[in-house]
Amino acid sequence: MAGIVLVGAQWGDEGKGKITDLLADDMDLVVRFQGGNNAGHTIIHGGRTLKLHLIPSGILYPHITPVIGNGVVIDPKVLLQEMDELEADGITTRRLLISCNAHLIMPYHRDLDGASERRLGGNEIGTTRRGIGPAYMDKASRLGIRVQDLTDVHILRKKLEAALVEKNDVLEKIYGLPTYTVDEIVDEYMEYAKRLQPHIADTSHLINRALRSDQWVFFEGAQGTLLDLDHGTYPFVTSSSPTAGGACTGAGVGPKAIDRVLGIAKAYITRVGSGPFPTELPSDPGSIGEHLTQKGGEFGTTTGRQRRCGWYDGVIIRYAVQVNGLTDLVITKLDVLSELDTIKVCVAYEYEGKRYNELPCHQTVFHHAKPIYEELPGWKCNIDHCRTFEELPKEARDYIAFLEDLAEVPVSIIAVGPDRDETIMRRWERRA
Ligand code: GDP
Ligand code: IMO
Ligand code: MG
Repeated sequence: MAGIVLVGAQWGDEGKGKITDLLADDMDLVVRFQGGNNAGHTIIHGGRTLKLHLIPSGILYPHITPVIGNGVVIDPKVLLQEMDELEADGITTRRLLISCNAHLIMPYHRDLDGASERRLGGNEIGTTRRGIGPAYMDKASRLGIRVQDLTDVHILRKKLEAALVEKNDVLEKIYGLPTYTVDEIVDEYMEYAKRLQPHIADTSHLINRALRSDQWVFFEGAQGTLLDLDHGTYPFVTSSSPTAGGACTGAGVGPKAIDRVLGIAKAYITRVGSGPFPTELPSDPGSIGEHLTQKGGEFGTTTGRQRRCGWYDGVIIRYAVQVNGLTDLVITKLDVLSELDTIKVCVAYEYEGKRYNELPCHQTVFHHAKPIYEELPGWKCNIDHCRTFEELPKEARDYIAFLEDLAEVPVSIIAVGPDRDETIMRRWERRA
């Protein structure tokens, strides 16, 4: 049995798409377990760039079964668009499976996401406005519409009637927005149903069967630990569980199905949207923050927004090790630091004269935490060509060793460029 989970250890965009695509070669199933098309995962291989939002990043391999688990919220319009784009590019989506229990994003979810953000004004979360939060709200309040409802028009109609009584009221009376009729949504969604029908399955059963027959299953996280609804920087979080436990509930497997938990982090850190960020750097022209933004191409895959950049935060990573039970770290974008004279790493925080080695539980402390840095020498040379740890310059090896000591978890994979091949496999045995 081999169940491997990959989770973002920071605020998302750590390079989950690249690493999933790389490791998927050895897998039988690649499963998305939470989030929706708020995610943007970029894969680059052989001169080809793919930007995926809902489809698992193992899609490039014809031997993989890509699975969208029950914990994902699916906008069927976006999913079908993504499938069409892949097919047009010669990539088959025939094997894609979608959980019958996954929830659907409805048009009113998108409207409500935008409307509530506008209402929050300066206090906005900075969501992707894709309807993610409102869809998970309906799931929790038991007003949600699931993929399996697409297979029975009568049930779909009944559930929509119940939901629209409330949704239309909120849209019209609270936000002054146009309302929906049951018929228009049923017509639209039954068109999607025709195309999605062959992909709908009891995915929990299939994943468990695969694990029992010693197949390898890769659980691909979206977002990151600090965006987790329970463990992240609430309320500046997403509405799902991107941490490792989410793989169990979002795919329908027990915790014993998980053998290895990979936490992925950039060699620095970024965040999109609002919320506290202790190691954030200013991004004025000529600054280090601007250098990281430009060299790292730090613009959102989903919304195109500029990502906020900062120094690597070791306190956050130690926290991610704890709440995910990480067995390994994957460090990406080491190449982005190559031109810097020195590199800072946050090892603890300070607030009102007190030192915090662990992530403070209280939001006020975290919001005002001042990073305590250690400064390490840069390597000042190109490392994109390095394919073994030994080929890296001494300063880069020392940097990785420093991160390893801080996290108390081995750094098993290091990425030195966006392409699938630009990777150092340090502690990763290929499947026999
Ligand atoms: P994800 O959401 O975690 O899948 O990450 P994104 O795809 O949103 O953002 C990561 C970006 O960094 C993508 O544009 C990747 O192509 C790129 N990337 C991944 N690893 C590396 C790396 O080691 N070096 C560089 N320069 N870029 C990388
Ligand atoms: P990947 O999978 C980075 C952020 C949004 C916002 C907050 C809530 O590519 O790493 P939401 O639309 O989810 O309700 O927005 O979460 N966010 C992400 N930031 N990467 C992502 O996904 C994100 N998905 C959501 O910017 O701050
Ligand atoms: Mg992303």
